[in-house]
Amino acid sequence: MRPIVIAANWKMNTTPADAGELARTIAGRTRVPGVTRVICPPFVCLAAVREALAGEDVAVGAQNVHHELAGAYTGEISAPMLDGLATWVIVGHSERRRDAGETDALIAAKLGRALAAGLRPILCVGELLEVRDRGAAAAEALVAGQLRGALEPNAGDALAGGTLVIAYEPVWAIGTGRNASGRDAAAMSEAIRGVLSGIAGLGSGQDTPILYGGSVTAANIGEFLTEPAIDGALVGGASLKPDEMAGIVGRAGVTAAARLATTA
Ligand code: PGA
Repeated sequence: MRPIVIAANWKMNTTPADAGELARTIAGRTRVPGVTRVICPPFVCLAAVREALAGEDVAVGAQNVHHELAGAYTGEISAPMLDGLATWVIVGHSERRRDAGETDALIAAKLGRALAAGLRPILCVGELLEVRDRGAAAAEALVAGQLRGALEPNAGDALAGGTLVIAYEPVWAIGTGRNASGRDAAAMSEAIRGVLSGIAGLGSGQDTPILYGGSVTAANIGEFLTEPAIDGALVGGASLKPDEMAGIVGRAGVTAAARLATTA
């Protein structure tokens, strides 16, 4: 049975002074059995959030990691530096592909560092609107290329730990208020599982949690979580709002309980 995961991507929001309280508030309002919760604040807020979440069953994640271990990389953060601060990491977010020019090859290297450091990666993939407008097959081909580019260099033992999580985030749905349909996101999730199963060393894609991301709110999360192929969400804007997170994780708990009931 795949876990249900709700991951909060705070992006470039919050400060060390206020992040801990926000994390504590969200944690307190989302104590729902069966849902894996992750909060990914900015690097400088990791320590405050980790401290605030002591005793809570909420994981802390970073939003990025460098592809080298150490060296002359001004302003960068490496995987060993995250030791003790984060146990998860977002890799290949479309905003970094767009703003920092991250390529699939670079993302593959970052993923390798994350896995080697024991960090649980959320690998983000997703198509631009111009690709989606050419149809589902074009979008699936684009996403398949992103998956192969990031995963094939790491296939084999590196991925055998089974910690990988994929977030399907159509770029046109991120921060726009225009979410994908649950059905389209589910179809893409199935396509992603097919690609994962075909990558040597990765085993069955059936075991890999696939999240949807892109304008997820408490009002629309149900549309995604009624799809058996979707295992949770990577939430941006709404993840800064405790009311929204309470609604999203509460709905995720319904799906988690239903999955448990069908396997019992
Ligand atoms: P959004 O962001 O929920 O604000 O659309 C999602 C993401 O980029 O992870």
